[in-house]
Amino acid sequence: MQHLVDTDDFSKEQIENIMHDAAAFKKEMPSKLLEDKLLITLFFESSTRTRSSFEVAAKRLGASVVHLDPSKSSTNKGESLEDTFENLAAMEPDGVIIRHEFNNTPKKLANKNLTPILNAGAGNYAHPTQALLDYFTMLEHFDFQELKGKTIAIVGDIISSRVAASGIRLYTRMGMNVVLVAPKPFMPDNDLPKYENLSEVIDKVDIIMSLRAQLERHKAPIFEDYDEYAKEYCITKDLFKEREILLLHPGPVMRNIDISDEMLTDKRCKVLTQVKNGVFVRMAILKALLLDN
Ligand code: CP
Repeated sequence: MQHLVDTDDFSKEQIENIMHDAAAFKKEMPSKLLEDKLLITLFFESSTRTRSSFEVAAKRLGASVVHLDPSKSSTNKGESLEDTFENLAAMEPDGVIIRHEFNNTPKKLANKNLTPILNAGAGNYAHPTQALLDYFTMLEHFDFQELKGKTIAIVGDIISSRVAASGIRLYTRMGMNVVLVAPKPFMPDNDLPKYENLSEVIDKVDIIMSLRAQLERHKAPIFEDYDEYAKEYCITKDLFKEREILLLHPGPVMRNIDISDEMLTDKRCKVLTQVKNGVFVRMAILKALLLDN
């Protein structure tokens, strides 16, 4: 039984196959490969993209999906997460897709080996399907040439971001150069090159991944005024000028704080392409976990 807690659960060969399958699915919808499969989604945190993308991906492949809304579940009667999960697993689904505020929840449930666990975002630790769909979007942009040696700047609230955490592990493993741009309170402690100003990296990067300030994860407000923060970290046309840089953001975008309205409609900005690709990449991931294993 294979789980997806983070992208290192997949070998490089599996990642290549997922990229290949996603590209093929984007060209032509496949037949109902997962017609006899049933997935349960269990989202303890809000989601627009990930939950609906997983459901669309599963249904495009013919699988059934059951949602359990934790706010209306027996969690309210004091049932533990482990008991909730074991009861769902007793119904013999083909996988449980879970989002949770704690970093170790997907791993803890995966260790029970009752049903495949698909991590849809855990704390600030990992969001593997987002990292893989972002990787696919970069590959597609560069015509499926190797991304080895390309430089990506991750900009914003990096320390709170599970997208950044999974992305850093995946991109460095695939041979990309990763640099971090953030004010000190948003900067994690690691060995990657670090900058406080976008102007220092703008001529050195092929890709910029902008991130949202994750106010809901801050124990106390870090900045009083995000308009001041935006003056340095918002991605604008004035900053990009005519440079051929690919602009990504996992969403939700805080308009004119993360990325300006003008840049969101610029052809170099692929925010909605990421969302579109997310369905094909999640289809490929579901195939890898439920069919190819
Ligand atoms: N990118 C992402 O995880 O978005 P949602 O929180 O809307 O799922």
